[in-house]
Amino acid sequence: MENNSATAFASPNIAFIKYWGNADPELNIPSNGSISMNLGGLSTKTTVEFISQLKEDVLLIDDKPQNGESLHRVKKVLNKVRDYSGTQIYAEVKSQNNFPAGTGIASSASAFAALSLAATCASGLNLMESELSRLARLGSGSACRSIPGGFVEWQAGTDDQSSYAKSIAPSEHWDLVDCIAVVSESHKSIGSKEGHFIAQSSPFQATRIQEAPARIIVCREAILSKDFDLFASIVELDSNMMHAVTMTSKPSIIYWHPTTLTVINEVRKMRRRGIPVCYTIDAGPNVHVLCLEGSKSQVCSHLGSIPGILEIINSYPGGPAYCLEQSETNN
Ligand code: PMV
Repeated sequence: MENNSATAFASPNIAFIKYWGNADPELNIPSNGSISMNLGGLSTKTTVEFISQLKEDVLLIDDKPQNGESLHRVKKVLNKVRDYSGTQIYAEVKSQNNFPAGTGIASSASAFAALSLAATCASGLNLMESELSRLARLGSGSACRSIPGGFVEWQAGTDDQSSYAKSIAPSEHWDLVDCIAVVSESHKSIGSKEGHFIAQSSPFQATRIQEAPARIIVCREAILSKDFDLFASIVELDSNMMHAVTMTSKPSIIYWHPTTLTVINEVRKMRRRGIPVCYTIDAGPNVHVLCLEGSKSQVCSHLGSIPGILEIINSYPGGPAYCLEQSETNN
């Protein structure tokens, strides 16, 4: 009997053009393409060990056994890996983040990217990047963007084969900084799974989706040409459009807290003073304040003076998911 184990690391990502709503909820085929940047310095470490004695898959996050929805999603990815490798053996999955759980930074993207890579490495499979990205997508849509490095585009596609992410520029391409203003440490009340599900009930979703390809083109061009002003205008528009959809869905979701709006206003104030800076907000109240390395200290010290911000975490364009070790033991 063989026990095969591997450990992989992956970073979360922040979406500049956002994924919100699925064309196929089972496979997480999104209603629109999206663009993101990996958050360097933040990572999930996941070890997968296939153990022949196990009677079912086991998931431990920070050494605590997990059940329910998170275990269900992990099994979905592991079942696919077992299909690929032709094995029936169950696995023990151990996962931990190097960023505190309470910071409100979504960890599902890094978690499922690291899981997909560790599970395939442990099975001795050597998948292409696009195949790994498709596998990670099954666990959490945005996880497909945490497989490639740097600045990443997820082409929506129309089926399992065609829906995956690839890098449009490496991490060293642009010295962008994400100053994450943490305004709440509590978990979001309505998760992205439900948000994707009800997105279609907003009268604005159809327009958001219809115009997404044009925003993708502008955002990709802004990144490739390092045009910060163009980047700022499209990133804020896209974020506002996603939140307009959440606020007008049935039921309505308001992810913002009062301090979220305060930070938005302060970012605008800084921009009026000539500082190149913009904001984007995912499915939670924390604000990702984006600027260039040259303005980081100015932006951070301004953010530091805003009452209600609990913490500021700085992140830089991050690399791809990678697998650290692989061991094979014969029992
Ligand atoms: O991958 P999910 O299901 O957690 O959805 C992510 C949704 C957003 O973070 C709000 C947007 C995105 O593109 O990452």
